[in-house]
Amino acid sequence: MTEREDTAIPVICIDGPSGSGKGTLARRVAEELGFYLLDSGALYRLTALAAVRRGVDLEDEAAVAEVAATMQPRFEPTGDGWTRTWLDGDDVTREIRAEAVGMDASSVAALPTVRESLLALQRGFLQPPGLVADGRDMGSVVFPDAPLKIFLIASAEERARRRHKQLKEKGVGANLPALLRDIEARDEQDAQRAAAPMVPADDAIVIDSTSLAIEEVTRQVLARARERLQAE
Ligand code: DC
Repeated sequence: MTEREDTAIPVICIDGPSGSGKGTLARRVAEELGFYLLDSGALYRLTALAAVRRGVDLEDEAAVAEVAATMQPRFEPTGDGWTRTWLDGDDVTREIRAEAVGMDASSVAALPTVRESLLALQRGFLQPPGLVADGRDMGSVVFPDAPLKIFLIASAEERARRRHKQLKEKGVGANLPALLRDIEARDEQDAQRAAAPMVPADDAIVIDSTSLAIEEVTRQVLARARERLQAE
């Protein structure tokens, strides 16, 4: 792969803050179009988890970048739209979703050489017939030539409410004000970092999902995707 992506294969970038619904949106759009899916957040989560497991200090940039370059991630589609995630031979599907791993992922994601280490791995997901890439910098850094870039937002309060509902459904106890504080802290860390901060690409379409059902957001994005892909 060259410095830039192979533009012959279409990429749909879906960026935005945690809890905006971009994961669900990306999965549904990929399924509908028969495209591959890149959950780039999972790669940062895996890097953080691998570093902790290897006893690496998360502030030691060179050591964490080495972990990112040497860890063995594997994504196995389960056939029903979900993905089983493996790290160095262990099934870590549930473990990487913990709030603490999310915070650690946000910390290691602020390190420029870690981001650099993960760049080729992310671009390697680009395969025909196309890719839906979910993250923070898919449209701004990883796939700058993508024909469709969506930046999905929702108010922090709404995102905390959604997360609270999700956790309750899973039978996990959660405190709404604490979830809101965590979401705001992670937004701040992801948006303020110097390396590839979470910002919409200049040519991204911003969609506010605060008062939209995921079905409606998916419908809008699929309509735009079909329009853009036909125009290519
Ligand atoms: O989307 P997520 O919550 O799984 O992502 C976990 C963290 O990884 C998030 O707080 C910021 C970081 N991240 C990033 O910096 N760039 C990406 N493309 C994806 C995630």
